[in-house]
Amino acid sequence: MSADTGKQAAAEAAIKQLERGSILGVGTGSTVNVFIELLAREPGLVKAAVSSSEASTRLLRDAGIEVMDLNQAGPLDLYVDGADEANRHLSLIKGGGGALTREKVVAGASRSFICIADDTKLVGRLGEFPLPVEVIPMARSFVAREIVRRIGGQPTLREGVTTDNGNVILDVSGLAIDEPVKMERTLNDIPGVVTNGLFALRPADVLLLGGSDGVRTLRRDG
Ligand code: A5P
Repeated sequence: MSADTGKQAAAEAAIKQLERGSILGVGTGSTVNVFIELLAREPGLVKAAVSSSEASTRLLRDAGIEVMDLNQAGPLDLYVDGADEANRHLSLIKGGGGALTREKVVAGASRSFICIADDTKLVGRLGEFPLPVEVIPMARSFVAREIVRRIGGQPTLREGVTTDNGNVILDVSGLAIDEPVKMERTLNDIPGVVTNGLFALRPADVLLLGGSDGVRTLRRDG
């Protein structure tokens, strides 16, 4: 099975869980792109979307879906997004596509979060995928030193990347993340950090994992 087949299967499963006519939070990445393609084939399935990135906004508009500002939309019922890694508690690493801050905001504004991924994303321990940290540009070197001092790992500047919010990203490799909530808080405490890619304080509620034998559903509460 290719990862693409798994992404397709997970995206199809998420479409089936949508309530017609709602305002939907939409994430970013290749799995979400498949999900948006499927949305485009079902006009009216969602009333409007709140997007987590400029890239997803373009795709949603191309699909004929109205994109609303989160400030106008208010609380959302559902957010659908991918992940770079997920553990069985549905804590995630996100931000491989650089959209982590807006993703975390929209996830936080949503009552429920469905994560869609191919089944290679499920790991025993988070951290094999380098952890993205969005940083204010002037704080870049200071934050990199503080990361090493506080949690270890090797931070590397993502070259040539400016986020939708005008910031830079440090990718931290070499982490074995046994306590994702603690690490998320520790990173948030460093001045100059805008967001980190750990979604553990607000994990997914449902994880739809596409694989060769269909879609496996993991729920946070068991
Ligand atoms: C975007 O910033 C990321 O958080 C993506 O949601 C995540 O990287 C998953 O992307 P893929 O669906 O492309 O694997």
